[in-house]
Amino acid sequence: MRVLKTVAETRPAARALKASGRKLGLVPTMGALHEGHLSLVRLAKKQCDAVAASIFINPKQFGPNEDFAQYPRSFERDRQMLEVEGVDLLFAPTVEEMYPQDSTTFVNAEGISERLDGASRPGHFRGVTTVVSKLFHIVEPDRAFFGQKDAAQVAIVKRMVRDLDLPVEIVVGPIVREADGLAMSSRNAYLDASQRKQALVLFRALRAVEAQVDKRETNTNRLVNVAKQTFAEEPGARVDYIAVVDPDTLSPVDDVSKGALIAVAAYVGRTRLIDNVVIPAKK
Ligand code: PAJ
Repeated sequence: MRVLKTVAETRPAARALKASGRKLGLVPTMGALHEGHLSLVRLAKKQCDAVAASIFINPKQFGPNEDFAQYPRSFERDRQMLEVEGVDLLFAPTVEEMYPQDSTTFVNAEGISERLDGASRPGHFRGVTTVVSKLFHIVEPDRAFFGQKDAAQVAIVKRMVRDLDLPVEIVVGPIVREADGLAMSSRNAYLDASQRKQALVLFRALRAVEAQVDKRETNTNRLVNVAKQTFAEEPGARVDYIAVVDPDTLSPVDDVSKGALIAVAAYVGRTRLIDNVVIPAKK
């Protein structure tokens, strides 16, 4: 596995991996890798002839009072994990390499970027679309792999790719969970033992909603109330949002019979966690 830190070295190395029509996959990450990230690498290995990964903790997607400084950094461990998975190229730039001092250009998917996490984290998705479009231009992948864990990010990246005619196919991998259901996240490392238990309320709330959908409940207000009740039983967690939306536009829907994304975000202590489930359209 080649580990490269500059744009100048990475572009020709990635192009060489695409030689003679070979398909190149890209898995963008912020490191602190876990099985969720590795599942995307394995999907990329299956679907592509060569795989690149990136590790870059993108300052532009963190708010001023968020966890950029504390975000877990474990480069050597991450590098080894990617090597074991058979990744061909790891792009791991510095902040200065990605954002020269006077860089002032952003990519923003307007409107949709203010929904869900974008409402509680102003500027977050503008930072995501900016860095992801840069990564696409540097690596020029045929396919890029994203996790359903960040469902709003998926919708926004797909929108950007469509709006800007970027020549990349977005592939989405399912949410990887711990044995007890907690969605894997680099931020789970912030939780102490009792918070780790409290964090399960996100999954419980989504399961309670799914159980109602299985009983043919389709009304959004009633489904949201079921989730709220579940959260009310866990004082250790503070709800940020419970959203029932169209998975592509992230606009609210009042009924899930045509399919919907049910997404939740909650604080456990100071740690902000997210999770979601997709309700398929009723046949
Ligand atoms: P990061 O949080 O490191 O996640 C990298 C990729 O792994 C994302 O596509 C995310 O959805 C996926 N992922 C995380 N946890 C997962 C889980 N439990 N199951 C399946 N996939 C999971 O998302 C980002 O980084 C950044 O915003 C990035 C796209 C790299 C841009 O900076």
